[in-house]
Amino acid sequence: MAQTITVIPGDGIGPEVTDATLTVLKAAGADLEYDMQQAGLIALQEQRNPLPKSTLESAEANRIMLKGPLTTPSGAGFRSINVEMRKAFDLYAHVRPVRTIVPGGRYEDIDLVLIRENTEGLYVGVEHYIGIHGDPHAAAESVMIITRFGAERICRYAFEYARANGRKKATLAHKANILKFTQGLFLEVGQEVAKEYPDIEWEDRIIDATAMLLVLDPYRFDVLVMENMFGDILSDLAAATTGSLGTLPSASVGAGTALYEPVHGSAPDIAGTGVANPMGMILSVAMCVDRTLGEPTLATAIREAVRNTMAHGDVPADLGGETSTMAFASAVRNRL
Ligand code: NAI
Ligand code: MG
Repeated sequence: MAQTITVIPGDGIGPEVTDATLTVLKAAGADLEYDMQQAGLIALQEQRNPLPKSTLESAEANRIMLKGPLTTPSGAGFRSINVEMRKAFDLYAHVRPVRTIVPGGRYEDIDLVLIRENTEGLYVGVEHYIGIHGDPHAAAESVMIITRFGAERICRYAFEYARANGRKKATLAHKANILKFTQGLFLEVGQEVAKEYPDIEWEDRIIDATAMLLVLDPYRFDVLVMENMFGDILSDLAAATTGSLGTLPSASVGAGTALYEPVHGSAPDIAGTGVANPMGMILSVAMCVDRTLGEPTLATAIREAVRNTMAHGDVPADLGGETSTMAFASAVRNRL
């Protein structure tokens, strides 16, 4: 029986890259049904709820989601739906393979994987204002939560991932020198888990030095693991070593549930112009086909088709070419 996946095109360029991706996926012959759902700004406008019940029910039933980017207002406005989805499905591990697909990026032949804890840290969003002398916004306070449970499962995930994917080394990035309790606990747990994986080389590094080294010499890293906010920041930094955010996929994984999405945002500056690079979402689908559907051959075929398309000169605008979103998808489809 065909597996049904919940598809959430999202906001901005989301619907465009989703259309392109489904064109490729359908042509690839994956045995899939698609349940189209809304979330984000578009859902707020059309259903008066940025995370409608039907979307949650569909995801609950299917357990596999393919999602486009969602626009999140800064400051006031609704809370991040991405964060809400992570919470709703306990998608605790964010996996971002950072691999050079296109030559001519900042560095050649980048191949590392960043694994980010997705449910704890400062991003639990426990924060409030403190009023002083009649100024209700005189100060603001935010709470960083690290649990032994959360730290252990993400570190274990990283080592298991390393083993399953033939990776040699894991780096835990932290700030335990300053945040001795929260970051200290994360490091302590990481050190304990590392002992169970003697086959994987292990190191820990301070987060700011890790950021510097990622720019100076990204080749020294293999698997990186860290808590939520550091992972958010470094995952984009790591992605940028390949030259473009538009090309990269990701998975957010929990027990029995996985959400696949490109790493880029809704790109309001180019939405509706038909020039968005759909590669990030197409490669997210390849991860889905590989990891959740257990069809590595099909996943490889999709990745190769993307590579060949680029090699034959069909290059999206963000990489310096002129190929439109749908023209790129058609070219990939034709090379499958
Ligand atoms: P962004 O990734 O949307 O855009 C940054 C720059 O990269 C822009 O110049 C954009 O045109 C370009 N870009 C991004 N994706 C591209 C693609 N596929 N092809 C060609 N060019 C591309 O990041 P920004 O501007 O910080 O965020 C815009 C909105 O997206 C915000 O509301 C933010 O909250 C949201 N966002 C959502 C994410 C998600 O749902 N997973 C992730 C990141 C941001
Ligand atoms: Mg981010």
